Amino acid sequence: MQHNDTVVILDFGSQYTQLIARRVREAGVYSEIHPCTLSADKLKAIAPKAVILSGGPASVRDVDSPQLDPAVLELGVPVLGICYGMQLLANTLPGGAVASAKEREYGRAELSFSGKSPLWEGIEAAGAHTVWMSHGDHVVSIPDGFEVIARTGSVEAAAMQDASRNIYALQFHPEVAHTEDGVAILNNFLFKIANVGTGWTMASYVESEVAALREKLGDDHVVCALSGGVDSTVVAVLLHKAIGKRLHCIFVDNGVLRLHEGEEVVNYLREHFDLNLKYVQAQDRFLDRLEGVEDPEKKRKIIGHTFIEVFEEEAKAIPGVKWLAQGTLYPDVIESVSFKGGPSVVIKSHHNVGGLPEKMDLKLVEPLRELFKDEVRKVAYELGMPESIIWRHPFPGPGLAIRIIGAITRERLDILRRADKIVQAELLASDWYRKVWQGFAVLLPLKTVGVMGDDRTYENVCALRIVDSLDAMTADWSRVPTDILARISNRIINEVKGINRVVLDISSKPPATIEWE
Ligand code: XMP
Repeated sequence: MQHNDTVVILDFGSQYTQLIARRVREAGVYSEIHPCTLSADKLKAIAPKAVILSGGPASVRDVDSPQLDPAVLELGVPVLGICYGMQLLANTLPGGAVASAKEREYGRAELSFSGKSPLWEGIEAAGAHTVWMSHGDHVVSIPDGFEVIARTGSVEAAAMQDASRNIYALQFHPEVAHTEDGVAILNNFLFKIANVGTGWTMASYVESEVAALREKLGDDHVVCALSGGVDSTVVAVLLHKAIGKRLHCIFVDNGVLRLHEGEEVVNYLREHFDLNLKYVQAQDRFLDRLEGVEDPEKKRKIIGHTFIEVFEEEAKAIPGVKWLAQGTLYPDVIESVSFKGGPSVVIKSHHNVGGLPEKMDLKLVEPLRELFKDEVRKVAYELGMPESIIWRHPFPGPGLAIRIIGAITRERLDILRRADKIVQAELLASDWYRKVWQGFAVLLPLKTVGVMGDDRTYENVCALRIVDSLDAMTADWSRVPTDILARISNRIINEVKGINRVVLDISSKPPATIEWE
């Protein structure tokens, strides 16, 4: 895809690198993350309008610490070093020096400006500025030609600049929300110093991506697996806009979906987009194979293999398909840098339909590989999709199978579906659906005694699992108000035959996981 102006972020391993990229994009500027090992020649080929050096966990004074190709600083492209990026500049350029602080500074600090800078434009008037610090080293001598432009109580050179060469550096993290004027400072770098043009909007993305897909795919046919989540739905709609009926979507009902999920997704797409869409009802094939299986990994394998089998049969029945569409996102494509034992490059890849492209000799088309998740949601809004799809909670490939602990039966699936529907409905009705990462019910292999009217009952226990998370790597149980929990519990026990007790899961991840299996 063609982009007007690009900002390159060189990654030195900071946990905040992706956040820098997102802040730049939020300012309407296209940004890309590259490993810090990128050579100046390769960088030049990208022709960025600005370069940002990220933070990182290493110390520039260590022998094996990641370095910058010094020629990057000779390209004449404006540079902003953040934290490790600042220390690296001081360590690389003549006259600069870095030392270890007595103790690591972590948390908020009060920044005061000690020099004029275009970085401070529009925010000089305020007194002290709260900024977020996280560093062990600091700059004790600034490089030749630089001036100090801000300090904190503990760091004399908290920001520095060489305006004649357009090189700027901050010891604190402007990308972190705790830095009050962080966005203003980053925007000053982008627009006052680097004169970067905006143009990265999701409306322009849709337009240029559709044109690019049309060009790339020519008259070819593409097959796409729809899951009902926002990613695969956006992929399908973008491709449909580009190549119309030459896109063949396949929605496989594997028998472990939520209540009415298949129909809802398929009906929405058929009504709004005139998609070429096959709804494959493969429930029996999946459920017959899952009969009596208790082991979670076995459940996953059976569902994975059966999905590939069904999808392959369906895809093969479409003549002349050359491409498989996937919803790979930008975080899956970024070459993540790890410095434990020297730079190494790990590339994660998506395996929704693992193994299929090679097996079927299909080429991959990934229309979302430049987008972050929040940008996919913006594209979805742009395409006019309803909030029920845009904000749908993540749902695991093995579906309800890993939320029924123990053996799966059609009867237990039916019980869980009805309990789950109540959880979804009450979260939606109370506005908590969008506040939490995921919320669902789990059916336990456990019966307890209850009383209903004058009768003794002996029925199943269901657990509520509602969590907050940013990326599913860590999570905490959501502090949902007790009146909402009470309503969910009352409704499940009264409306779902087969459940007479509801419990709440209050474990965080780690050490627990989000799903129970
Ligand atoms: P855990 O349980 O590992 O879940 O904390 C993290 C996130 O991943 C989802 N999940 C899965 N997704 N196939 C999937 O496609 C799976 O086998 C699977 N297991 C867990 C889970 O819903 C959560 O969002």
